[in-house]
Amino acid sequence: MTQSAFTPPRLVLYGIGQYGSHVARMAVEKGWPIVAAYNRAGPKVGQDLGRAIGLGRDLGVVIQDCDSADYAGLQADIGIVATTSLLRLNLPAYTRLMSAGLDVLCHGAQSYYPHTADAPAAAEIEALARAHGVSFTGGGIWDMSRIWAGLLVAGPCTHIRSLFHSSITDAQIQAATPQQAMQVGCGMTMQEFFDKGLDKSPLPGSYKTIPQHVLAALGLRLKETRVRIEPVTFDVAVETRLMGVLPAGRCLGSRIIVDVDTEEGVGAHAEMDVRFFRPGEIEHMFWSVDGMPRTSVRTERLDTDYATAACLFNRIPDVIAAPPGIVPVSQLGPLKPSAFLGQRQSHG
Ligand SMILES: NC(=O)c1ccc[n+]([C@@H]2O[C@H](COP(=O)([O-])OP(=O)(O)OC[C@H]3O[C@@H](n4cnc5c(N)ncnc54)[C@H](OP(=O)(O)O)[C@@H]3O)[C@@H](O)[C@H]2O)c1
Repeated sequence: MTQSAFTPPRLVLYGIGQYGSHVARMAVEKGWPIVAAYNRAGPKVGQDLGRAIGLGRDLGVVIQDCDSADYAGLQADIGIVATTSLLRLNLPAYTRLMSAGLDVLCHGAQSYYPHTADAPAAAEIEALARAHGVSFTGGGIWDMSRIWAGLLVAGPCTHIRSLFHSSITDAQIQAATPQQAMQVGCGMTMQEFFDKGLDKSPLPGSYKTIPQHVLAALGLRLKETRVRIEPVTFDVAVETRLMGVLPAGRCLGSRIIVDVDTEEGVGAHAEMDVRFFRPGEIEHMFWSVDGMPRTSVRTERLDTDYATAACLFNRIPDVIAAPPGIVPVSQLGPLKPSAFLGQRQSHG
């Protein structure tokens, strides 16, 4: 497609929270039509979308209650779901949108690689998508920074023994309140971390899919996966915006550790922190390959919340062009910017 042949996709937004609002603002800025917006019952329902996302003006799209709305006859190309991370909880949204003939792009963490995140839910989504001839993709910041970074770093190798992935994600950006930060153990003593069952957190269920997704996309057959989660502490006090100064030895968050074996004997080891940062630390993801040649890449995350919404937004054209069924981002090629979409190319 030439840049000038681009037709702006027609969007439906399902879940008008932080990220749904980001996507809505990007669509307005780019002139991509928003056909309808849905949210669960509450104060957002009945508001004009433009007001709800802070534009200070009406867009002529009233947010509807997702449970009582009528989805028949929606003249749209794609539904963007930004509600919860769990496939099972999001199934009503997928069912409603796909049954109306829309492709679905979901921001939930489990949606990147549904087959291993929740196999029964994945089977339902696959059947639903195929029955309606639409596609389903999970997207967001992991697309560029974790999945494609891993694939690209393996690209030059003629031999691969193993892969290594690590990352630090800032719990202070992810969480708006101390209570939300405590979901990964921030501020707890080591004892509290285990007493409150943080070592049984559902987080690894989503994070394990990162090395699994990359290995499978490299053509390897997944054999066994081991996951665990542990508290992260430092031996110095750390000043935090949400909880003040945390003394040395206090939990700053969680580390998710994943080991994946494949039938081919190539393994992946991942250590992914979600925690408060020490001064000077920057959110980043790292991949390295032990092989020939030895390769590595580090991707840094600036403007985090905008970045994850932008990764989701920029996948929209690929998802609309994808074949029916679950199509992970690894099958869609590297992410492309929307910065120049719709602009006429200058040949001067
Ligand atoms: N893919 C990635 O890389 C990535 C990165 C970061 C976050 N995420 C995920 O993105 C999702 C959205 O995050 P967020 O920060 O935008 O959350 P948020 O601000 O809480 O927004 C979620 C929105 O969805 C609505 N909602 C929640 N459950 C719903 C349901 N069952 N049916 C209909 N509407 C529902 C909420 O309604 P109320 O107004 O009632 O609360 C809210 O408006 C989360 O699952 C988060 O974990 C993914």
